[in-house]
Amino acid sequence: MGLVADPHLVRLINKKGPCVTGHSPDKLIFRSRIAKLPGLLSREVEMRQPLVAGNWKMNGSLASVKKLVEGIKAGLATVTTAELAVCPPYVYIPQVAAMLKGTSVALGAQDVNDRESGAHTGEVAPGMLTDVGCKYAIVGHSERRSIYGESDDFTARKFAAARKAGLVPILCVGELLEERERGITEQVVGRQLDAVIALEGIGALADAVIAYEPVWAIGTGKTASPQQAQDVHAFIRGKLAGLDKAVAAKIQILYGGSVKGSNAAELFSMADIDGGLIGGASLDANDFLAIGRAGNA
Ligand code: 13P
Repeated sequence: MGLVADPHLVRLINKKGPCVTGHSPDKLIFRSRIAKLPGLLSREVEMRQPLVAGNWKMNGSLASVKKLVEGIKAGLATVTTAELAVCPPYVYIPQVAAMLKGTSVALGAQDVNDRESGAHTGEVAPGMLTDVGCKYAIVGHSERRSIYGESDDFTARKFAAARKAGLVPILCVGELLEERERGITEQVVGRQLDAVIALEGIGALADAVIAYEPVWAIGTGKTASPQQAQDVHAFIRGKLAGLDKAVAAKIQILYGGSVKGSNAAELFSMADIDGGLIGGASLDANDFLAIGRAGNA
């Protein structure tokens, strides 16, 4: 990434709190200086690009999708640093793909089946998603886990199938309110991660994204405080670092749960928060772009 990475570096220097990847703020400042020497130590300056992904859930129509994507495109130039992605309902993916052609906005799906093809009425295979231009697929969203009873193991199989087809899985993890109150947040999130690591190995997470979404913060207007979110993100990165430091340093860990334009910058300033997975606010182009701009260096 070389000099191109400088804005990210500057941003990371300004982040608060301990960075569990082992890069002290002083070291980052030092690295930003050496990064100004072209061609030198380019590996040293690799940074995590923020990602802001909109999960539209079961919302939209041909007309509203058109308006939303047009609005995002109109303001795209104001988002200078984060990658933006949108995850429409399956049926609108081709429409959105056509509209986003030639832009930097990535496309994702909200879910994926764990099989390649066959007699699975109502399901969508990973290869179908790459076929229509998807880069990402969300797996293990809490609504899949709670409303449709999807287990950690099933989620892990979806994660594996998505990767096999060349998709980048966005693996959602997060605790229920009752689990937080019982003090078992790390146990729950750890168990959800372990299912994927057991099936696919830690190396598989190098080509994936994790989204920490505390269930009590989803669609409730009740956001985790930046410190509450950072604590869990640091736990996740620390857990991964115990298995593979390079994977832990590379993986983007997004926060999801009532993120808005007004709270995104503070959340994204935390050391281990690399962007957001956005529900309600992603249905409004201006709100979504404002969250995207919160990632600007
Ligand atoms: P809200 O942003 O509406 O709380 O939804 C978060 C979410 O579930 C994203 O996947």
